[in-house]
Amino acid sequence: MLAEKYREQIAATLAKYPADQKRSAVMPLLYMAQSEYGYVTKEALAEVAEIVGVEPTQVASIVGFYSLYYDHAGGQHRVQVCTDLPCALRGADKFADDLCAKFGIKLGETTKDGMFTIEGVMCVAACDKAPVFQAQNKEGIVYHENQTVESAVKVMEELKGKK
Ligand code: FES
Repeated sequence: MLAEKYREQIAATLAKYPADQKRSAVMPLLYMAQSEYGYVTKEALAEVAEIVGVEPTQVASIVGFYSLYYDHAGGQHRVQVCTDLPCALRGADKFADDLCAKFGIKLGETTKDGMFTIEGVMCVAACDKAPVFQAQNKEGIVYHENQTVESAVKVMEELKGKK
C-alpha cells in the first residue's frame, strides 16, 4: 500500500494544495504509484482515488489520457511512437510497423527480453517532426524527432546498453 510505504511523501504532496483541493495531487501520486509498481495497477489507482477523494473512474480517465502513465505492465523502456493523424500523414504508421518488425513484435507488444514495449500514442506536440517517439524509463523521458527505423534502432540499442 502506498499510504503505508510513502506516508510522509504523500502528506508532503497533499500539503502543497488547499485542503479542499486534494484532487490536485492526483498526478504526482499517480507518478509515485507508477514508480513503485512499474505501472499504475488497479489497486494503486483505487488507492490514489481514495487519498484524493475522487472516484476511481476519474483517476482512470487521467491515466488513459496521458501517455506518461501506463495501466499495464511493459518493458524496461517504453518506446511511444506518435501515430496520431498528422504524424500518420508523415508515415508514422509504417515507421511504427517497420520498427516493431525489427524487434519481432507488433505495436503494443513487449520484446521477449522485456527490454522494450513499442506502442502508439496520441500527439506528443512534434507534429511537423514525424516520425517521432518518446522513450520513457525510470530515469525520465527523451523525445526523438525526425526518425528513421535505423536511427530509432540505434537509440534503442544505446538504451539497452545503459540498461
Ligand atoms: S500528431 Fe504526432 S506529434 Fe502531433
